Amino acid sequence: MKIGILTGGGDCPGLNSVIRAVVRRAINDEHEVVGIRYGWKGILEKLLMPLDLRSVSGILPKGGTILGTSRTNPYKKENGPEAAKKNFKELGLDALVAIGGEDTLGVATKLYKEGLNIVGVPKTIDNDLAATDFTFGFDTAINIVMECIDRLHTTAESHNRIMVVEVMGRHAGWIATHAGIAGGADYILIPEIPIDQDEVCGSIRKRHERGKNFSIVVVAEGACFKDVEVATTEKKLDEFGHVRLGGIGHTLGKRIEEKTGFETRVTVLGHIQRGGSPTAFDRVLGTRFGIKAYELIKEGKFGRMASLKGNQILDVSLEEATARLKTLDLDLYEISKVFFC
Ligand code: F6P
Repeated sequence: MKIGILTGGGDCPGLNSVIRAVVRRAINDEHEVVGIRYGWKGILEKLLMPLDLRSVSGILPKGGTILGTSRTNPYKKENGPEAAKKNFKELGLDALVAIGGEDTLGVATKLYKEGLNIVGVPKTIDNDLAATDFTFGFDTAINIVMECIDRLHTTAESHNRIMVVEVMGRHAGWIATHAGIAGGADYILIPEIPIDQDEVCGSIRKRHERGKNFSIVVVAEGACFKDVEVATTEKKLDEFGHVRLGGIGHTLGKRIEEKTGFETRVTVLGHIQRGGSPTAFDRVLGTRFGIKAYELIKEGKFGRMASLKGNQILDVSLEEATARLKTLDLDLYEISKVFFC
């Protein structure tokens, strides 16, 4: 077989672990593997890179993706799906492993229904993909955020300040809540629940009344006030219809300072959360997903996605996996609330 691999959407730590696992396993069985560069763009423009044992050697600890990525959507290009199907054939691909989040796998679902042999692997630091307990990249991201919160604690305490930390999480508060609990945040704000500024400020005031002289507030980029639309840095939409988020931290910080009178500073963590070497958990999960993707191809189980359920790697239909997003488990948020101020 000739197996293609592509990585689409935002990059995340652990992508190279998946690529390495697919290549190692497929080459063991004497199949050929090619990398498709820059996600779906590579299929539309036939941008290939050979993948052999040498090209995947040493990539396990590397962040990002050796294949490059993009947010190209074939369904937003004139004759895009037709070109994808034609090129798939012309490139001689017998199967494709699409590694991505809701957008990339949404395209994979549609192209599979149009007859292409595709299997999916779920990735995103946001952990908001349904049908898998965790996506790889998330564990690395929350560990980075936790360390940043730890560091912000010492400077906040030294200066008697409120620190607002804006983290990623477009639709879901997984990063904010996991990293917030791990870092001992005094308030956590998530996209699933509109921000009630009186409650946030009241809670901070109470904390200061009981003798604390600093507070850490974690806010997900997709969180918004009851009275204001979601904060964006640009109005332009990408090919999947998403605006570029960012800015809620600054709006929130200003409001907290005005309402409480406490000096407030804002840190936007941004792409730091997506960069660098994956944790052991993400390397292992990526490796397990990669092996599963190869097995699905070998068994001819196309239209399926590797998924983590409990401690088992199973497979689910791509359609089911992309039908809805997985928002935060609100029981976990209740636990985080025990520690609010
Ligand atoms: O990887 C998902 C995500 O982290 C979202 O939380 C965020 O809104 C988006 O990526 C930003 O990505 P980029 O700046 O690459 O468009």
